[in-house]
Amino acid sequence: MSKIRVRLGINSYNIYIGSGLLMQTARQLRENGFAGKLAIITNPIVKRLYGNALKQSLTREGFKVTVLPVPDGEEQKSLEVAGRLYNELTDFYSERTTPILALGGGVIGDLTGFVAATYLRGVPLIQIPTTLLAQVDSSIGGKVAVNHGQLKNKIGAFYQPRLVISDISTLKTLPTQEFNGGLAEVIKYGVIGDKEFFAYLETNLDRIKSLDERLLKEIVYRSAKIKAEIVEKDEKDLGLRNILNYGHTVGHAIESASDFKVEHGKAIALGMLAAGRISNKMGLLDKTELVRLKSLIQRADLTTELPRLEVAKIIQAMKHDKKILKGKVRFILAKALGSVFITDEVSLSLVERVLVNWNEET
Ligand SMILES: NC(=O)c1ccc[n+]([C@@H]2O[C@H](COP(=O)([O-])OP(=O)(O)OC[C@H]3O[C@@H](n4cnc5c(N)ncnc54)[C@H](O)[C@@H]3O)[C@@H](O)[C@H]2O)c1
Ligand SMILES: [Zn+2]
Repeated sequence: MSKIRVRLGINSYNIYIGSGLLMQTARQLRENGFAGKLAIITNPIVKRLYGNALKQSLTREGFKVTVLPVPDGEEQKSLEVAGRLYNELTDFYSERTTPILALGGGVIGDLTGFVAATYLRGVPLIQIPTTLLAQVDSSIGGKVAVNHGQLKNKIGAFYQPRLVISDISTLKTLPTQEFNGGLAEVIKYGVIGDKEFFAYLETNLDRIKSLDERLLKEIVYRSAKIKAEIVEKDEKDLGLRNILNYGHTVGHAIESASDFKVEHGKAIALGMLAAGRISNKMGLLDKTELVRLKSLIQRADLTTELPRLEVAKIIQAMKHDKKILKGKVRFILAKALGSVFITDEVSLSLVERVLVNWNEET
């Protein structure tokens, strides 16, 4: 088992990463001072795969456990569902010391985090992420939220978990498409934070895709460490944390222009390539590194083909999403693999050019 300490003063916590950790949850909880009652929020798929067994093992260890299932799907991240969960927690006589465990992907993590942050003005939150995206991204850093109308992830809080338990063996049941979506974020960490990690992914991608546990543990550990270090420096997202959005400026626009038919991971892969090409055109990232980025994205079975969307629609979505000042949009650009920076100097016309000429670009 590996451990990462996220240092945030009194809100510091540990991330545990390893194989088979789920069944050791009772020990981790006790070591962190928890006993008695606890609630698990999960969805029916994850409950069947892991929730029932987790409940049994915790009950055997003397915890009094209730499982609160929420249907699968992004639309469950809502105030309405949060409201229902508050009632269910109250029926269970939850107190301010009763921890809530988020067992599932990012949807469960964000929703449970929001409920934990707000119920009784905050109860202990334990993240037990079961998707690659959740293990490397959403369970770390304390952004919790629900959606509300057009406001995606905009009703929320910064609320750090007390503990994150990432059992990499749970990734073995993940649909391939979900796994690959998580790989997009893993590749992102290589680009933003560590060129040696990027090279490690190039060397080992095939074994990673075959779900070799040693490698899974390594990529989750290294990605989580990069995210944790960024969060430590900018917990409240006032500057540096923005670099975690590498690939997301164009990526989010593609997602929304496609009415969310293009999945997040694929959209982000396209966004990372777009940002790479823009960087190259601005005299930053060199061609060899741009080609390496494209080929790693392809090998991860993430697309580099821009879907048939009107470029104008993508640009419109970007305008809607971002503050545009004098025709310039905020971007995360790459100087080289492993080194990015935030700039307000990218012109919309350059972004448009890269999108229009997509098939002719490197
Ligand atoms: N808080 C943050 O910082 C942050 C960062 C990135 C993304 N997010 C949020 O995360 C969400 C996306 O998370 P996600 O990609 O994990 O999607 P998800 O939670 O919808 O999970 C994807 C699918 O995998 C299933 N699943 C989960 N674990 C499984 C397992 N071990 N085996 C088999 N199936 C499993 C789920 O039931 C679901 O159908 C979005 O709502 C996004 O806004 C939050
Ligand atoms: Zn993302």
